[in-house]
Amino acid sequence: MSDIGKRVEGRRKFLQDGMALGGAVALGGVLPSVALAQGAAKIKIGLMLPYTGTFGQVGLNVSNAFKLAILENGGKIAGREVEYFTVDDESEPSKATDNANRLVNRDKVDVLVGTVHSGVQMGMVKIARESGILHIIPNAGVAAATTSLCAPNIFRTSFANGQTTYPMGEVVAKKGHKNVVTLSWRYAAGEEMVAGFKDSFTKGGGKIVKELWLPFPNVEFQALLTEIASLKPDAVFVFFAGGGAAKFLKDWQAAGLKDKVPLYGPGFLTDGVLEAVGNAAEGIETTLHYADGIETPRNKAFRLAFAKAYKTQPDVYAVQGFDAGLLLIAGLNAVKGDFGKKKEIIAAMEKANIDSPRGKWTMSKGHNPVQNFYLRKVVGTENRVIGVAMKALDYPPAALCKMR
Ligand code: PHB
Repeated sequence: MSDIGKRVEGRRKFLQDGMALGGAVALGGVLPSVALAQGAAKIKIGLMLPYTGTFGQVGLNVSNAFKLAILENGGKIAGREVEYFTVDDESEPSKATDNANRLVNRDKVDVLVGTVHSGVQMGMVKIARESGILHIIPNAGVAAATTSLCAPNIFRTSFANGQTTYPMGEVVAKKGHKNVVTLSWRYAAGEEMVAGFKDSFTKGGGKIVKELWLPFPNVEFQALLTEIASLKPDAVFVFFAGGGAAKFLKDWQAAGLKDKVPLYGPGFLTDGVLEAVGNAAEGIETTLHYADGIETPRNKAFRLAFAKAYKTQPDVYAVQGFDAGLLLIAGLNAVKGDFGKKKEIIAAMEKANIDSPRGKWTMSKGHNPVQNFYLRKVVGTENRVIGVAMKALDYPPAALCKMR
């Protein structure tokens, strides 16, 4: 079948699956349609996330918090019970389309939720565009998902990569640092994180003296740390996350650089790793759309509920997963749980008022959060808010999305 043929066939399939009677086909036609019309069929949720490797804990926190949002909603969505179909995507781009395809076409999930890694995300976006399935991205920040490849059925509750680092470039320039070295994994997320930082840092008069890279998910930092020491920059900007961020922070301290060279990055560098790194992150400033210490009743209630349910502290990834659950609930409440009403679901998700632990945010025209970016500082095991670096940031601009 041609690409276009496949796409048309895929969209037709989604619409059928989305209608109440489509569920009977998926279940072998054994349920009477009246039971389905009353909402008896479970909502099938596909969770495609990394549960192993450097982003294993990140994926688990997204997953757990998504489920927490549903549990706090009585364990149901719009009166319908839910069933989870879980896939460990291993942060492996080469397996992404097969994994997503299996959830959509074999398991026949109603909604596809995932993922963390930008490269894997590109495969999921491809399947979501071809099939037309409702798709919610709870982390991966690859810009294309909400700009050049945006689509009515694709939503993101997290960020675009450069959106988290654009505020940091301004902060570092205003501190008076002139010569900065950047260091990251070389893949879509790392490249976009560095580009966002560079954009505002150079506008503020700064200069990137060297860009250093490592293949994902390599954590052999030693040679690069030696190079940084010899370059003697005013400051260093890095993007690492999950297990890789914890290892980097410890190696940075062990190399004796912590007290010599100021280190900056998006908040992923210090989120979800503080318990594991001792005092290696103490004092580091980052920018992010969330901070542990946000003093609102909503954030406090969320942190308490997450810690009680999962015996560990939540982080930015948990917040994004939680908001993905809230977004799905908002969409389905508007249609009493009927996936056949795709247009109405999308309209409700576009204007949803998500009561997020991070504070208020709105959905851009490209379906990416327009949100505030906090300046944070590590104090003990907390990412504390020390200011707001940028307000209601839409970056890269949603105007790059030509959805309609
Ligand atoms: C990404 O690959 O898009 C990504 C992964 C982990 C993060 C942020 C972005 O913390």
